[in-house]
Amino acid sequence: MSDTPVALVVAVADNGVIGVRGGLPWHISSDLKTFRRLTMNKPLIMGRRTFQSLKKPLDGRDNIVVTGNKSFRPPGALAAANFETALALARRCAEARGVGSAEIMIIGGTQIFEAALPMANRIYKTEVHGRPEGDVFFSALEAADWQELERTPLPKGPRDDFATTFVVLERVGRDSEPSL
Ligand SMILES: NC(=O)c1ccc[n+]([C@@H]2O[C@H](COP(=O)([O-])OP(=O)(O)OC[C@H]3O[C@@H](n4cnc5c(N)ncnc54)[C@H](OP(=O)(O)O)[C@@H]3O)[C@@H](O)[C@H]2O)c1
Repeated sequence: MSDTPVALVVAVADNGVIGVRGGLPWHISSDLKTFRRLTMNKPLIMGRRTFQSLKKPLDGRDNIVVTGNKSFRPPGALAAANFETALALARRCAEARGVGSAEIMIIGGTQIFEAALPMANRIYKTEVHGRPEGDVFFSALEAADWQELERTPLPKGPRDDFATTFVVLERVGRDSEPSL
């Protein structure tokens, strides 16, 4: 089995909020475009609630939905009973697409981000510059584990509720520790 890299894609407000009442707490058109560009032609892993927050399965991508409900048959998507099964499924999907070395994209929500974080190589993070009401949060990252590859401030466009900053983080190599 290939060792396809794993990446998180998250949009998080300045107060840590990522969701409210089963949906996103904002509409940011420019970030939806970024999300589409980053995830296209790749396998996506998401929790059942995130899947149900979408109007339909995301086109051009493998939608893999983690659920403990054995009878949940998501239309246009594959169900996985736990995160490990989802990951194995995503690796097979990447191979089948002939993009075995492309990233597996973890798109939330909270438990799925937490399960994936220890094995994630990259995080594509949109910092949303607002403090909206919310009921789902993204935990702060351990700064020492991540180095910034990119930081691009994006002003609020006409179809954006907030200004954002797009940040790409890469895990600091575990073998790049300074020797004693
Ligand atoms: N801003 C962002 O980047 C972003 C990204 C994603 C989602 N969101 C928002 O976050 C909210 C949804 O996230 P959420 O954290 O509430 O829910 P979620 O993670 O999308 O879904 C939770 C469900 O996933 C299943 N699940 C999770 N871990 C599992 C495991 N280890 N084994 C088996 N099943 C597991 C369970 O489904 P069952 O109950 O079916 O067993 C659980 O109830 C929405 O508001 C959404 O809009 C925001």
